[in-house]
Amino acid sequence: MIKISVCIGSACHLKGSYNVINSIQKEIEKNELADKVSINGTFCTGNCGSKGVAVLVDNNYYGVEPSKVEEFFNDVIMKMV
Ligand code: FES
Repeated sequence: MIKISVCIGSACHLKGSYNVINSIQKEIEKNELADKVSINGTFCTGNCGSKGVAVLVDNNYYGVEPSKVEEFFNDVIMKMV
């Protein structure tokens, strides 16, 4: 199981955490990966200064902008499944 944790701390919230979560969920459904990929929200992971919302994938950190979720999903998640 691949575990995606999206930061919902205040800095990331302002950068669009909820849009990132919703879009990742859509990608999971679209690619029928519900049994392989899980997603949850997490508190501040200390990466507030980065560009985009802090997203951890199996403890590796990525900064993901709401408009770039599909790209992130294809580049990172699809290569892991
Ligand atoms: S608020 Fe998201 S990393 Fe700090």
